[in-house]
Amino acid sequence: MTRTNVKQCKLNELTKQELRLIAVNLLRRASRDTRIGKYNIPKDTVVIFNLWSIHRDPKLWPEPEKFDPNRFLSEDGSKAVKLPYLVPFSGGKRICPGEGLANVPLFLYLVNILQKYRVRYDPDVKLSFEAKFCVSRRPKYSPPLIFEKIEMS
Ligand code: HEM
Repeated sequence: MTRTNVKQCKLNELTKQELRLIAVNLLRRASRDTRIGKYNIPKDTVVIFNLWSIHRDPKLWPEPEKFDPNRFLSEDGSKAVKLPYLVPFSGGKRICPGEGLANVPLFLYLVNILQKYRVRYDPDVKLSFEAKFCVSRRPKYSPPLIFEKIEMS
């Protein structure tokens, strides 16, 4: 993403786009036999609210793999749009209680980095969306980013 692109879209929309693409979630265990729609979930089954598939559903997100913060802006780019299917903090009873707290440092980190560095990725290294499971679902490889310090005049 170029600096001009960054200026064009609001930084909050950039953060939302990051959260859409990294979409991690915790594993849960059914505490009793449960039925969800037509599915029987026996006690002790490990379950996950699959944010990955919601955030990559082409019916909701045209070109889902594309990094496009403008998805979260109205057509004329003047207003932020709240999309109900952007759920990086999950949903329901177990929704992340830290959402409000997390959004502030995410925004501040991003602003600080973009003020000091020009960020680009190494075009010789293929970007990967492969994931691994730890405490939560995480990207398998760190993206090959290059940080160039912006000289202040
Ligand atoms: C970018 C930052 C964060 C993201 C994307 C995130 C996302 C999530 C997700 C997806 C869950 C699982 C919800 C589920 O199982 O359906 C969760 C749970 C939780 N998060 Fe976060 N979180 C973030 C930051 C934080 C912070 C800053 C705190 C606390 C200060 C926090 C506290 C918790 C707690 C306590 C739970 C467990 C809630 C429960 O089991 O009822 N999170 N978070």
